[in-house]
Amino acid sequence: MKQLEGQVALVTGAGTGIGRASAIALAGEGAPVTLVGRRQALLDETAATIRGAGGTALALSADITDPNAARDVVARTESEFGRLDVLVNNAGGGSKSRTVRRIETDDFEAVQRLNVTAPLVLTQAALPGMLARGTGTVITISSYAAVTAGPMAGVAYGAAKAAVASVMKSVNNELRSLGLRACTIFPGEVDTPILERRKLVPDAEARATMMQSEDLAEIVRLCACIPGRTLIEEVYVRPTQLRDLSADTAAAMET
Ligand SMILES: NC(=O)c1ccc[n+]([C@@H]2O[C@H](COP(=O)([O-])OP(=O)(O)OC[C@H]3O[C@@H](n4cnc5c(N)ncnc54)[C@H](OP(=O)(O)O)[C@@H]3O)[C@@H](O)[C@H]2O)c1
Repeated sequence: MKQLEGQVALVTGAGTGIGRASAIALAGEGAPVTLVGRRQALLDETAATIRGAGGTALALSADITDPNAARDVVARTESEFGRLDVLVNNAGGGSKSRTVRRIETDDFEAVQRLNVTAPLVLTQAALPGMLARGTGTVITISSYAAVTAGPMAGVAYGAAKAAVASVMKSVNNELRSLGLRACTIFPGEVDTPILERRKLVPDAEARATMMQSEDLAEIVRLCACIPGRTLIEEVYVRPTQLRDLSADTAAAMET
């Protein structure tokens, strides 16, 4: 039996990588899924994949750093599907400069808006419905960079991913007795398009050692599907195989 029958999900960054795989996994469990991102064509492709497998999807182009646009995708989900049970805060990204010495404040703040403020606004928009039903799950893709801050992921990204994890701890500490649960996932390297923004883009051999989007989607699926009495609060997940990151770190130091 499908485990999310009767529930509705929204996934940000659903046109690519971890978000795309997670949306497909949640739809496979029977939840209609709203797909959010800026590039409509990629969302339409994910939606077509979901519908091809018998699922239901709504593809909404939006820039979630605009708080009104973020609130609107939640409102449109609730008007189209009647409710929102599982919010996946997946969309994210880093800065051009990764170093403490060169990061500019505008770039630093833009990274916080995407990775911290947008998940908070989306969560706030989803809360009234979740609290009225006494149940709801917010799943956030943070990063292992929250733990190992440094030039590889960048000072802005590391700070943002630590901050959003703290926001989600607040959600749990304030609201879990009312039925809300916030699950934060801290991945190491996953082979997705985000890697193309690095100064040294990992080659096929390096990517073959990394986790794949489907691996993360499996964790998202578990966080959403485990019975509501159980809260998976934090998941740290890394490639089993360690790789030598010295050249990648040296390249990042030049940004
Ligand atoms: N890959 C890794 O090694 C890794 C490791 C740890 C954590 N993560 C995290 O995993 C999450 C997913 O990343 P990914 O690896 O799957 O990379 P990705 O393919 O680059 O996914 C990022 C997604 O975010 C969307 N997005 C970016 N800015 C947006 C905005 N302003 N409004 C709406 N959507 C926006 C992008 O779509 P549009 O450009 O079309 O908007 C894209 O689909 C991110 O939070 C990332 O930080 C990744």
